[in-house]
Amino acid sequence: MGADNQASIARYARHAAGYDASARRTMALRLRTIGLLGLKPGDVVLDVGAGTGLSFGPLRDAVGEGGRVLAFEQSPHMAERAVQRVQRSGWRNVWLQCIAAEDVRLPEPADAVLFNYVHDITRSPPAVRNLLLQVKPGARIAMAGIKFFPWWTGPLNLLPWMKNRPYNVHPGGLWQPWDRVQPWCTELRWWPTQCGMGYIAQGRLRAAPPTILPTFGAHP
Ligand SMILES: C[S@@+](CC[C@H](N)C(=O)[O-])C[C@H]1O[C@@H](n2cnc3c(N)ncnc32)[C@H](O)[C@@H]1O
Repeated sequence: MGADNQASIARYARHAAGYDASARRTMALRLRTIGLLGLKPGDVVLDVGAGTGLSFGPLRDAVGEGGRVLAFEQSPHMAERAVQRVQRSGWRNVWLQCIAAEDVRLPEPADAVLFNYVHDITRSPPAVRNLLLQVKPGARIAMAGIKFFPWWTGPLNLLPWMKNRPYNVHPGGLWQPWDRVQPWCTELRWWPTQCGMGYIAQGRLRAAPPTILPTFGAHP
């Protein structure tokens, strides 16, 4: 496990207890991305960096008892809360592992992939590659997260930068946070949210992985 993963785990050891309360105001955006996945009963959906499992209920409602929610989360403190949520609710079709995105092995390919507020994962090319090589060609993708306001707002961008900082190890990539997932998609559309300080994006995975990926240096 890399230094970035360890730094992130240390942060979430501090955030886990208060996480659900702090995430309440962005719950509507989580529901929007879940809606954009166009899930049907029987689908298999992957919840990337599932945190405390805030999206499990709505994902399960969409795929039904005959579908499956695959989820992983590297922070033991966050994952423990997600496990408790699954046990409390008696859900039998949620597969959950405490493991990094760079290392996870999915039990089956997913029809749809949810990236809700997982900037550290979407900035990590090895993580994106590992995940997207394991889902079905043509899989539906939805994302939500923080982004910078347009460049001409200048110092206002201190605000999203400060909001990102406590949660994510990667301070950069906030101009186009979806740009490391985009080359894997045939199309990826995005919309601003929260007056431009957030985004949601929707795409579809290519039939085959991209042969040439843009070269990324040390990921910001
Ligand atoms: C802001 S939380 C979002 C949690 C959840 N997706 C949600 O919508 O509430 C980001 C989560 O990503 C996890 N994470 C960060 N880097 C990761 C990695 N490389 N592999 C797995 N999980 C990671 C963190 O531990 C944290 O729980």
